[in-house]
Amino acid sequence: MKTVNTVEALREQVRAWRGAGERIGFVPTMGNLHAGHLSLVEQARRGADRVVVSVFVNPMQFGPNEDYDSYPRTLDADRARLEAAGVDLLFAPPVEEVYPAPLAEMTRVEVPELSAILCGRSRPGFFAGVATVVTKLFNMVQPDLAVFGEKDYQQLIVIRRLVRDLSLPILIEGVPTLREPDGLAMSSRNAYLTPAERRVAPQLHHALERLAAALRAGDRDFPALEQLGLQQLELAGFRPDYVSIRRAADLSLPGRDDAELVVLAAAWLGRARLIDNLRIVPGTDGA
Ligand code: PAJ
Repeated sequence: MKTVNTVEALREQVRAWRGAGERIGFVPTMGNLHAGHLSLVEQARRGADRVVVSVFVNPMQFGPNEDYDSYPRTLDADRARLEAAGVDLLFAPPVEEVYPAPLAEMTRVEVPELSAILCGRSRPGFFAGVATVVTKLFNMVQPDLAVFGEKDYQQLIVIRRLVRDLSLPILIEGVPTLREPDGLAMSSRNAYLTPAERRVAPQLHHALERLAAALRAGDRDFPALEQLGLQQLELAGFRPDYVSIRRAADLSLPGRDDAELVVLAAAWLGRARLIDNLRIVPGTDGA
């Protein structure tokens, strides 16, 4: 596996593969890789001849009081894991390579409305930061296929929308959330949890499972279910941000007859802001 730090070196390598008729798969990450990230790599390998992974902690998607400075940076360990997973190219640019001017002066990609709901309400500017860096990375790598985790469900929907709206010729694939044995969704930010918080953390998934079971059983009193979810999280010791039942396709508010739903939640536990979601897919167990 080769590591490159500049767009020029990245393009040179990708151009050679493309010239040989090979299909390029791409997995963008912020590093501190865990098995969830590696499952995206596997998915990319299934659909492409060459897999490019980026590791870039994107300053544009962090708010002024968020954890940009303390976000775990573990490039050497990440490189070893990617090499073992059969990745062909690691792109790990410095900030100046991605943002040659101060952030406030840089052109941005905004996905309206979708970026203002759910996580976007409590993290203003977050999805513009994600949409901008992902668009830039797509232009740098020019992949045929890009893979994202359903763990960040709203992010996946924002990216599908920008690919549609900007007519980008890239297939977007979503991969189910990888979990710890106790149900906690794997996340780099789980490292912020104290041992006591770590024992509480799976309650987020359990609260969502209870709501998903009620929805599968036909309960359609969405506000009451959301309220129940909030109460359960508070009782477990979280500071909930939101619990919301939405249409899976576009995160709009569901009606009684909508069958494809997603229940999403965000909650603070100590200094960690955890998110999770479960999809309700009719005709399956929804797992
Ligand atoms: P990061 O949090 O590093 O996540 C990179 C990718 O891994 C995302 O698509 C995310 O949904 C996926 N992922 C994280 N945890 C997962 C899990 N437990 N199971 C399956 N997939 C999981 O998301 C970002 O980085 C950034 O916003 C990025 C898209 C790279 C833009 O900066």
